[in-house]
Amino acid sequence: MDRNFALEFVRVTEAAALESARLMGRGDERAADHAAVEAMRSMLNSIQFTGKVVIGEGERDEAPMLFIGEQVGRVGGPRLDLALDPLEGTSICARGGNNALAVIAVAEEGQFLHAPDTYMRKIAVGPEAKGVIDLRVTPTENLKNIARMKKCLIEDLTVMILDRPRHADLIAEVRSTGARIWLIGDGDVSAAIATCKRDSGVDVLMGNGGAPEGVIAAAALRCMGGDFQGQLIFRNHLEEQRAQRMGIQDLNRIYTIHDLAAGNVMFCATGVTQGTFLDGVRFFSGGAMTHSVVMRSESGTVRYIQAEHHFDRKPRY
Ligand code: FBP
Repeated sequence: MDRNFALEFVRVTEAAALESARLMGRGDERAADHAAVEAMRSMLNSIQFTGKVVIGEGERDEAPMLFIGEQVGRVGGPRLDLALDPLEGTSICARGGNNALAVIAVAEEGQFLHAPDTYMRKIAVGPEAKGVIDLRVTPTENLKNIARMKKCLIEDLTVMILDRPRHADLIAEVRSTGARIWLIGDGDVSAAIATCKRDSGVDVLMGNGGAPEGVIAAAALRCMGGDFQGQLIFRNHLEEQRAQRMGIQDLNRIYTIHDLAAGNVMFCATGVTQGTFLDGVRFFSGGAMTHSVVMRSESGTVRYIQAEHHFDRKPRY
């Protein structure tokens, strides 16, 4: 994949972040999401590539734009698959909370798992604990192995978990090991990325979140040298049938990071609201500042881009 695409795709997440950030704290999740989707789609269509959305806003009948299977791009360039979330953390943005992001992951054709919009049981760690996580064993066993790799006590580990009633047993078990817990309201893509950042204070992400977000997080962690495993969780027979229609044969399979995002992967994100690893959009008279990250699995380079946008000289998207 041409590395020069990196800057093109940062413009895409910047546009989505700029538009949704305008609606921060307004209590309107749909409007914020819609603004991000429209901006992202418009910017994608300005790039010369043959893109296909494989992780997107949902299926064609429920999502008018950036639906799974939608073709984007100015035809003529390479064929690339996209796993995107124009606004990861819609309710975070609507509340004005922390860590809402505009994200896109790009890979050559056929390299992302076509994950259905179900839940996924996840575990994510940074580079120091790569290779020891295993969803087939208990959270306690995983934490023991992670502590061994990080040469620390289990009590020194911090585990990020979505604050949901479904996680009561997981939280009780993690507490029983002595590990520290950081409960978050939303945004497990940002949480997975935090495990790869030494200064974030986060060692592990555990628990069930969205499956599409799992693929996106796996792409980010491929670039950052971290590790990730996921297993699809189905709440009913209809969800199982939908997964089968999307080509999932083994419904109980545990996916490794490479099963979720293979080959050369690129990942871009722009902060919408203030976050642990990216600043949110800050508006000033006639413009705004954005903070983005772009990274590639091939080189492992992680670039942070602070941009100053002047709306009088450049159309917003
Ligand atoms: P949205 O951006 O779609 O609102 O997702 C936010 C999020 O917190 C994800 O980060 C996470 O994977 C998922 O929702 C968890 O789902 P639920 O809110 O149903 O527990």
